[in-house]
Amino acid sequence: MKYYNSIIDTIGDTPLVRLNKVNKGIKGTILAKVEYFNPGQSVKDRIAIRMIEDAEKAGLIKPGGTIIEGTSGNTGFGLALAAIGKGYKCIFTMADKQSKEKIDILRAVGAEVVVCPTNVEPDDPRSYYSVARRLNREIPNSLYPNQYDNLSNTNAHYDTTGPEVWRDTDGRITHFAAGVGTGGTICGTAKYLKERNPDVVTIGLDTYGSVFKKYKETGIFDEGEIYPYLTEGIGEDILPKNVDFSLIDLFIKVTDKDAAIMSRRLSREEGLFVGWSCGTAVHGALEYARDYLKEDDVMVILLPDHGTRYLAKIYNDAWMKDHGFLESREFATARDIIHKRNNKAGLTTIGKSVTVSQAIQVLNRQGISQIPITDETGHIVGSLTDSTILNKLIDDPTIKDVPVGEVMDKPFKFVGLDNTVDVLSSLIDRENKALLVRDENEETHIITQADLLAAISI
Ligand SMILES: Cc1ncc(COP(=O)(O)O)c(C=O)c1O
Repeated sequence: MKYYNSIIDTIGDTPLVRLNKVNKGIKGTILAKVEYFNPGQSVKDRIAIRMIEDAEKAGLIKPGGTIIEGTSGNTGFGLALAAIGKGYKCIFTMADKQSKEKIDILRAVGAEVVVCPTNVEPDDPRSYYSVARRLNREIPNSLYPNQYDNLSNTNAHYDTTGPEVWRDTDGRITHFAAGVGTGGTICGTAKYLKERNPDVVTIGLDTYGSVFKKYKETGIFDEGEIYPYLTEGIGEDILPKNVDFSLIDLFIKVTDKDAAIMSRRLSREEGLFVGWSCGTAVHGALEYARDYLKEDDVMVILLPDHGTRYLAKIYNDAWMKDHGFLESREFATARDIIHKRNNKAGLTTIGKSVTVSQAIQVLNRQGISQIPITDETGHIVGSLTDSTILNKLIDDPTIKDVPVGEVMDKPFKFVGLDNTVDVLSSLIDRENKALLVRDENEETHIITQADLLAAISI
C-alpha cells in the first residue's frame, strides 16, 4: 500500500514545470518550481512544520498550546494544518489589505484571525507584528514562531527546497529567482545551491514600496522607499533576520500591475493558476533572463502559491480595470454619462422626515425609480427604490405613513468620474440599485441601470 501517515508528510517534493509561452524569444531553459502542490497550496507549508518542530525540540511549546503568528495568510494556513495534526490552537494577526479569501481560508481550518490596520508603522501597537507579540505575552503556553526572524524558516528551505532543485535539475541550475518577503525561501535555497556551485546566480524579486533593493545596493535603510503597495506576501518595510543579503546577488522591483498581468498570463498561457507574487517572480526573472540568459542556462523560478486566493482581485476583470491594470474597451465613463445628460436640474433628493406615501408621489411625478435621502444638513444618508418599497408595503401597508428615514436602504455608492460602464455595471446589483458621482464642480449626480443601458447601446 502507498499512503502517507498524515497530511504533514505530503509537504515538499514539488515539481519543476518548464515555461513554454510567456518566455517566448528568451534563451535557456526556464523552469517553475510550483509550490501550490503543497497541501496548504503554498511554499509556506515547508516552514510552518519546521518552525513548530524546532520549537517542540527546544521545549518552547507543550501539548495543548497556542500558536500565534503575524501572517499574510499562507504561513497561517501551513501552521493551521500542522497544528491540527499536533493538537495546537492557532491565532493569526493579518493586515487588512490581505484578500478576504485568505482570512476565510484560515477560519475554515479552525484558526482565529485578528485583522489589523495595514498603514501603520511596524512598531505601532496596532500593527499585526505588535498585536502578535502582545498576544504571545498574554497567553500562557503560546508560541510566536515569528517567520521573519526565526531561522528555522531559512533552514527549512536549506534542507528541502534547495536539495530538491539541485536534484531535479541534475545540478545544472545556473540561476535561481524568488520573491522576497521574510527572505527564508531565497536565502535557504540559495545557501544550499551556492554551497554546491558558487556560480549559481540568485535573483530576489521585490515590490515598489519595499526597502530591500535599495538596501542591497547602497546599505541604506531608506524610509522614503516605503509606501503602500498591493502585491501580497513579498516586499517589506523591515529587515527580517531571514534575509541574508550576501546570498542574494541582485534585486529587481516589479510593479503591482506587471505582476498581476503576468499571473493572469501564467494561468491562461501555461495552465499555471498561480498567486499574485508568482507574477512578480516571473515578470522580474524574465526581465533579467531576456538580457543575460544563454542557451545552456537553466533558470528556476519559485512560484509560491495558488490562484484561488486572488479570485476577487487579480482574477476579477472589474477589479483589474478599477485599478487601471487592464486596458478596457472604449467604454463610456461616468463623466460621459452625466455630461451627455446635461442634468441642469441637478439631483432630486427627499428629506428623511418625508412620509413613504409622499416619497412615492415624488417618484411618480418625476418618473424615476430610485432616489437618495438626505438628513437636515443635506447629507445623503440613505436611499429609496420603488421595488424595495413595494416589497416593504406588501409586508406592512401601515408604513406608508412613517418617515422614509425609518425604512430607507443604505445610501447609493459614490464612484469616480473616470469609471467606465463595464465597471459601473458590476457595481449595480439588487442591493445597490444606483450609483452617485460628483462632477468637477462638486455637484452630485445619480447613475442608474437605465443610464448604463443607454450609454452602452449608443
Ligand atoms: C504569496 C507569497 N509569496 C512570496 C512570499 C515570499 O517568501 P519568503 O517569505 O520566504 O521570502 C511569501 C511570504 O510570505 C508569500 O506569502
